[in-house]
Amino acid sequence: MTKMLITGGAGFIGSNFVHYTLKNRPEYEITVIDKLTYAGNPDNLQSVLESIEFVTGDICDQKLMDELVSQTDIVVHFAAESHNDNSLRDPWPFIQTNLVGTATILEAVRKHDKRLHHISTDEVYGDLELDDSNKFTESTPYNASSPYSSTKAGSDLLVKAWVRSFGIKATLSNCSNNYGPYQHIEKFIPRQVTNILSDIQPKLYGTGEQVRDWIHVDDHNSAVHAIIDNGRLGELYLIGANGEQNNKYIVEMILELMGKDSSDYEHVNDRPGHDMRYAIDASKLRTELGWEPKYTNLREGLQATIQWYTDNTDWWQAEKAKVEASYAEKGQ
Ligand code: NAD
Ligand code: TYD
Repeated sequence: MTKMLITGGAGFIGSNFVHYTLKNRPEYEITVIDKLTYAGNPDNLQSVLESIEFVTGDICDQKLMDELVSQTDIVVHFAAESHNDNSLRDPWPFIQTNLVGTATILEAVRKHDKRLHHISTDEVYGDLELDDSNKFTESTPYNASSPYSSTKAGSDLLVKAWVRSFGIKATLSNCSNNYGPYQHIEKFIPRQVTNILSDIQPKLYGTGEQVRDWIHVDDHNSAVHAIIDNGRLGELYLIGANGEQNNKYIVEMILELMGKDSSDYEHVNDRPGHDMRYAIDASKLRTELGWEPKYTNLREGLQATIQWYTDNTDWWQAEKAKVEASYAEKGQ
């Protein structure tokens, strides 16, 4: 058995990674460390709690991380403050968790000579113009826009510096926008699905022309495993599945899939500094590691995601009023 420490395993992508790994990679013995912030939900792991070890704690806690890292073979680092809109309200938790937390893990990994895979985002590259034929590649210069993306960019640079200066055994991956089950309802797709289920109109920021490159969370996680298995140490891999669509198109498709009039949404205040377009060229991952996505039909993936939120109202309903009240303060 290989021991795997998963940070942020009670969040959206991390909990899906735990489920994916238990199902497909039984050779791993899993420990999750999660602070259970507003975004971490132990219910996400309820069905598998007997198959893993769960530790409630903060990745910024040096003593705890030193102890947990010393006991593992590999660390897969998902834990982060992850929502752009929150980072515009209060950047400090982003600076603490994304920068100090990552540095804390790096020092423990260095001390105990362990393998690390660092999870990051394509948002570190800033944005592209709508009419630009280019996509992000591994050599696109870092140019982050928000406190969220800049702290993720900083965390990547810390990992790269620890690789170069101290020779730690690390890989990095930067993925585009994920969708799927267990995503917090503050995020775009679950917010609109749960709005419709709550008889609230979907909310489109600004014109809705902004483009995101959607990928199913299981495809993200299969790519992470491919990189852990065969990625070259010290390298960064972009993860994406050619899922570019603008926000207006997504809202209209969700409305249509839920049997509503596709024009029944409202435009609300735009996000300050709103990135226009993200797009990933995943050639390195595909050619070097032979990775391919499974969920290539966005409509089917969205339909399944809508079904999950419809079947799991208990999972999100208690949070809904609070999330909407916080958006309403900013006219969003
Ligand atoms: P999430 O907000 O759903 O989950 C984050 C998890 O980290 C939560 O369980 C939270 O409790 C935990 N956490 C936060 N601060 C912590 C701390 N100090 N110590 C321990 N645990 C802490 O986020 P997500 O969407 O699952 O994103 C996971 C990772 O993937 C992040 O690093 C994010 O930058 C990256 N990513 C996300 C996307 C996306 O579309 N959501 C795309 C690309 C990359
Ligand atoms: P989000 O899920 O916050 O992800 P990110 O900012 O990391 O891309 O938002 C995705 C896109 O949807 C982004 O362009 C902002 C937009 N958006 C809306 O139009 N309405 C909303 O209610 C939310 C939350 C986001």
